[in-house]
Amino acid sequence: MTNVPVFKPLIEADEIGAAVKSLEMGWLGMGSYVDQLERALTDHLGLKDKRLALVNTGHSALHLALVLAGVGPGDEVITPSFNCVSDFQAILQVGAEPVLCDILDDSLTIDLQSAKMLVGKRTKAVLFIDYASSLADYEAVEIFAAEHGLRVVHDAAHSFNSTHHGRMVGSFSDLCMMSFDPVKTLTCLDAGAIIVNNDEELGQVHQMRILGMGQPPAVMYQNKRAWTFHVDGEGYRYHLLNLHAAIGLQQLKKIEHIAETRRAACGYYIDRLAGISDIRLPEIDLKTITPFIFVMRVPAELRNDFRTAMGTAGVDTGVHWQPGHHFKILEDCRRGDIPVSDLAGNEIVTLPLHSQMATEDMKTVADAVIAYFKGDLKHTATKESALEQIAAAE
Ligand SMILES: Cc1ncc(COP(=O)(O)O)c(C=O)c1O
Repeated sequence: MTNVPVFKPLIEADEIGAAVKSLEMGWLGMGSYVDQLERALTDHLGLKDKRLALVNTGHSALHLALVLAGVGPGDEVITPSFNCVSDFQAILQVGAEPVLCDILDDSLTIDLQSAKMLVGKRTKAVLFIDYASSLADYEAVEIFAAEHGLRVVHDAAHSFNSTHHGRMVGSFSDLCMMSFDPVKTLTCLDAGAIIVNNDEELGQVHQMRILGMGQPPAVMYQNKRAWTFHVDGEGYRYHLLNLHAAIGLQQLKKIEHIAETRRAACGYYIDRLAGISDIRLPEIDLKTITPFIFVMRVPAELRNDFRTAMGTAGVDTGVHWQPGHHFKILEDCRRGDIPVSDLAGNEIVTLPLHSQMATEDMKTVADAVIAYFKGDLKHTATKESALEQIAAAE
């Protein structure tokens, strides 16, 4: 018997069929499927004044967003230390310096009081993220950015398909990125989206994503290439391939199913685990949020033991993330006091959450957590003996 995994991609006959079709059509590059997925996502997110472009990864989207924000060498970008490595690397990639602020203890999203203390002459932008199943305080970010004249890069890798005051996440931020990587709520195997403000910014993205080549995407969207083009500026090899977009289109058709199964699993965990005084559960608005990961907090001194015990009881767990200021590459970055990042960094545990959670899987997870905190789940040599302990305790 394999453990309940932290992530499990929902790849069914639809995705496999679409992948095969895209491989057989004779045009492997960026083409008609990319056009279709861009249109479908624009529609799904209700983008009216905003423009969306697909690229090969979320990381590329972050990089391009920072370039568009005009961030470059000598500039500083304020971002939480409790963040994905991709965000730090994107800031470094444009030659800027990450300046690390803290997070709020309840949502684990950016603490703007802590960010305010770090604003300086070189601050150019704020890069903030939604985390796990929590959205950042968008209104407060907007006020903060306006007060200090900063561009905003919103990393919405965790919040695809969530809404805020009736609007889809991604439809209102200055510059927004999304990730459709192998473990995300919606996967294209790998892909990213960048959502920008106008046609001019979109045009820049269109050129930058394909080596700076000034050929209109309309040509490639017909599964053809332009043989002549101009190259006026820097560019990268970031365009998305038909194969990935074909898979994404199938995923988008089942997004409500994906969202419902994830919400149901989170609701189940919260109901079953609510009584355990040693742990902190996330507060999730299950009506508006499509949860990406389920992160709870356990006492720091128990975390390793807890994770080992869960593993022997048939449940894989994860850690999202280690705070950035402990990484060598960021050790010289300017930063404020970041006690919450350190505290949360030692307490967080990610429980399994994916779009195929059988009731039996959810039960296995919840039973194991309950047994551990009742003291019934001792470290054991084998998975069988751990499961026997849980059964005996029930
Ligand atoms: C918050 C966050 N930002 C950025 C990324 C990078 O996205 P991608 O993996 O698509 O490059 C990830 C991926 O894990 C993420 O979780």
